[in-house]
Amino acid sequence: MGPDIARLGEIGNTSIVGLQWGDEGKGKIVDLLTGGFHYNVRWNGGSNAGHCVKVGDKKYAFHLIPSGILHPRCVCVLANGVVIDPIQLLREMDELGEQGVELRENLRISAQAHVVLPYHKKQDQLSESRLGDRKIGTTARGIGPCYADKASRSWAIRMGDLLDPERLGEKLRRITRDKNRILSALYDAEPLAWEPIFEQYRSCAVQLAPYVCDTAQLLHEALRAGKRVLFEGANAALLDLDHGTFPFVTSSNCGTGLSAGTGVPATALRTVLGVVKAYCSRVGAGPFPTEQNNDIGERLRLRGHEYGTTTGRPRRCGWLDLVALRYAARICGVTGLCVMLLDVLSNFDTLALCTGYRRESQVTDSFPPDAYDLERVQPVYETIPGWREPLEEVRSPADLPDNARRYLERVEAYVQTPIRVISVGPARHQTLIL
Ligand code: GDP
Ligand code: IMO
Ligand code: MG
Repeated sequence: MGPDIARLGEIGNTSIVGLQWGDEGKGKIVDLLTGGFHYNVRWNGGSNAGHCVKVGDKKYAFHLIPSGILHPRCVCVLANGVVIDPIQLLREMDELGEQGVELRENLRISAQAHVVLPYHKKQDQLSESRLGDRKIGTTARGIGPCYADKASRSWAIRMGDLLDPERLGEKLRRITRDKNRILSALYDAEPLAWEPIFEQYRSCAVQLAPYVCDTAQLLHEALRAGKRVLFEGANAALLDLDHGTFPFVTSSNCGTGLSAGTGVPATALRTVLGVVKAYCSRVGAGPFPTEQNNDIGERLRLRGHEYGTTTGRPRRCGWLDLVALRYAARICGVTGLCVMLLDVLSNFDTLALCTGYRRESQVTDSFPPDAYDLERVQPVYETIPGWREPLEEVRSPADLPDNARRYLERVEAYVQTPIRVISVGPARHQTLIL
């Protein structure tokens, strides 16, 4: 077991959010914290997420299942804001079962969560290929089309619908007919037959039915009984549908939508921990002012094993962008930072921190989230001397090299938020608590 940071202080109901473009190490933090919580709740996104947890020699990659699942006493919840691909969910459950992780007693799924269907994945792929060099670079998991259907209402199917064969049959027949018209008119694609989808999804429904319930009510009762809840954000603030680098974002409010995604008001939260890499990475398209499309980026990618958990794509890498980080911390209301992958920064002569953006002759420290504006800024850097020492074996903040401490102090001062956790490797024990 690694350090249990929940035991170090009363941190109350806690939300974990990513503060960059995803893959900051949220899974590691959730796994570490879950020991001190009764509930672990995913509330947004779907199988576009890939949260890795390393325990001893074993590495788990969760896409839909909450990352706290390895703690048997914690109830893991997929709340209403998640979009659920039942086939992927059952695959993950089977894989966990094979690894000896028993799920029946500790998994709950919202009847109000929307369902990802085969035509969503098809629409996602076809829409991306049609966009050509302006494509978003989605994970092709059908996330955008599923959330779009949720907003459109008449094409939506929720987990509750899956459980009722009559309702599911009526909806699927009608929706597939409309989808085929769209797929044919826009993409010249082959039509889908609704019956095989019905058979496959009914079979999933039978397997998932024991877990489906009203998760908002479950959480309200838990909170009233004084149980502690850990909320696990997927994706990240700069991919937030409203506040991220639109249109190069995902289709949920991954920085700001916790209440809508759970039915739990924000006032229930005591702590919001923002998870941030010690540098930046981004997978998929979109502006990335501090990207290092050179040997520095290549070094970060190699040392940080920066390849997507969900798609295997190489992640774009660059220096830490403090302008973007402070913006993200503000929109998420973070009360503390978890700085991850600090070990990856050893052995650089100098490190750069982006503290401003230049556009034409103006320098600003405010973040323009719209992609059109962000594409036009040039980063202004502060350079900081690096350190040679490897950090993987460091177990106390006092044992960090002086320059690593200076680097972190600069981050803390700029973002005006205390650093609570420093991570120096993927394992539980490679974690320093402040
Ligand atoms: P998430 O999507 O935010 O949960 O992050 P991912 O799991 O997609 O990506 C983070 C990767 O970094 C995973 O492979 C983790 O095992 C790994 N990781 C987490 N913390 C550290 C760390 O401090 N150092 C190193 N080297 N790897 C880490
Ligand atoms: P975790 O939870 C990294 C990115 C995709 C793409 C954009 C839209 O592991 O941090 P989508 O399939 O959601 O429509 O893709 O968002 N993206 C992520 N990038 N980590 C994630 O999740 C992501 N979830 C979505 O790469 O650029
Ligand atoms: Mg990830």
